[in-house]
Amino acid sequence: MSRTPIIAANWKMNQTPSETATFLEKFVGFFDGKTAVDIVIAPPFVSIPKASEFIGQSEAVDLSAQNMSPEPSGAFTGEISAAMLNELGCDYVILGHSERRTLFGEDDAFINRKVRAACEAGLKPILCIGETLEERDAGRIEEVLKTQLEGSLADVTAEQMADIVIAYEPVWAIGTGRTATPEQAQEAHAYVRSVLAGKYGEEVANGVRIQYGGSAKPANAGELISQPDIDGFLVGGASLDPDSFHEIVKAGVAEAQGNS
Ligand code: PGA
Repeated sequence: MSRTPIIAANWKMNQTPSETATFLEKFVGFFDGKTAVDIVIAPPFVSIPKASEFIGQSEAVDLSAQNMSPEPSGAFTGEISAAMLNELGCDYVILGHSERRTLFGEDDAFINRKVRAACEAGLKPILCIGETLEERDAGRIEEVLKTQLEGSLADVTAEQMADIVIAYEPVWAIGTGRTATPEQAQEAHAYVRSVLAGKYGEEVANGVRIQYGGSAKPANAGELISQPDIDGFLVGGASLDPDSFHEIVKAGVAEAQGNS
């Protein structure tokens, strides 16, 4: 089955509203209508309204948040709800990023509540999973990925799964300049797909897009995305410059066109 590649920029705590405008003015200008891939930009919350001004008029680019609360509204100081993101035109929301897991103590049960809340609100989750170097060295990759998938996808229906993107991000590759080899990434992606097939059946699993994340950059994007189970990227550092992110998008477009 051919899946539309999805290339997403995770800006993390970078790009103020004015920097967002500067980036998007240039970046959106690269595209004349929809491309062969889905392109997603995830700015920090406060830059989303500015991003929406540019992305709202672009057929090529979709908007994402980097996080959200599982709660619909109420006394949750500092939190942002799905309805707030919907109102600003967000299509996607990144959930369970390893920085949220390790720095902010998010566990699979909490992430699961967010995934279900996002699906119910019509936002498409980009659900992040991935092992640490310690876990990899101890031969525990499969066990870790399976536990994360089962925990964060508990009670998620097959219909909802069709709208969920998985981002496999080995923690040791995030922001380190150390990328997984295409073989390491393919092996993990194929395993993730097999877990999804066990839970939802082959057809659903074959339709789910699985992104690679962790020091993805123009120099390695082409080789990674040519792997059969790698369907795009979640890009941190290399997404902060419009030209560099555009090069990664181009690798996705080349792959999509080669497969069509
Ligand atoms: P990186 O970040 O591309 O800077 O490694 C990826 C991510 O954390 O999503």
